[in-house]
Amino acid sequence: MVKKGIILAGGSGTRLSPLTKAVNKQLLPIYDKPLIFYPLSILMLANIRDILIIVNPDQLKNFKNLLGDGRRYGIKIKYKVQNKPKGLPEAFILGKNFIKKENVALILGDNFFYGQSLTSKLEKSLTHKSGARIFLKKVNKPENYGIAKIKKNQIEKIVEKPRKFISDYAITGLYFFDNNVYKYAKTLKSSKRGELEITDLLNIYKKNKKLRFEHIGRGAVWSDAGKIDDMTNVSSFVQSVEKVQGIKIACLEEISLFKKWISNKIISKNIKFYGNCEYSNYLKRI
Ligand code: DAU
Repeated sequence: MVKKGIILAGGSGTRLSPLTKAVNKQLLPIYDKPLIFYPLSILMLANIRDILIIVNPDQLKNFKNLLGDGRRYGIKIKYKVQNKPKGLPEAFILGKNFIKKENVALILGDNFFYGQSLTSKLEKSLTHKSGARIFLKKVNKPENYGIAKIKKNQIEKIVEKPRKFISDYAITGLYFFDNNVYKYAKTLKSSKRGELEITDLLNIYKKNKKLRFEHIGRGAVWSDAGKIDDMTNVSSFVQSVEKVQGIKIACLEEISLFKKWISNKIISKNIKFYGNCEYSNYLKRI
């Protein structure tokens, strides 16, 4: 069973500069909420309530101001500072004391997922006992992502940002790992771009025949919001869905209330915390 989750919310965000000169990418808006709400909502939908958020040293205060210790959302949030963006697998090295002897999920702080079949897929992944599990989605520009080549329903090859086309199945930023992840992460060496690569970690699991995959499918949306066009596209998508359907995507309180993790009393407190805004009006309605 996976009960713990890590959100990687550090990074330099250079592709979004000057927006990210003073504020971390994950605190920038996707329509009506900070970006971090979206990956956090995915962990919550997967029933993961014990969460470690990895942040840059100068942004710790901002994240704490926004999310606190998680009590507001019926979850437990701890923070860990990453001094330099040394790569995604560093999450497991920094998170050693958090993970302890358990399995763990990792979600990238700039990843957006939305779709009906998603929750059932997530719940299925929670029963995950050994090995690693990844989620694939077809993309237009495979050179921008970690890519998996699938042959006869097996993963044949995994390459980070391949220059030459090998497949258009991107490895999305949500991963489930067994407890070997720390041990394997420790053995990794920096790549040419000076980072520990998540694809190298996945390749260890693949070599041990312990890597499973799942397709996110056409009914669900996935995007990383690492570039300005992606951010504005995702923002417009959220705006359209919310306006047409009168619901909110990634309303943390709504998820928590549905799961009976928080009471109406806490929601009233949160309304005071946010003040008079559209998000509070929505909370009043739910
Ligand atoms: O979005 C999916 C892709 O994410 C995968 O397909 C790739 O295999 C994976 O390497 C990653 O690629 P990116 O180039 O998009 O990763 P990026 O450097 O943008 O980092 C992703 C998030 O993790 C971002 O929100 C910042 C955070 N981060 C990143 C690094 C390198 C950290 O918190 N610490 C880090 O050291």
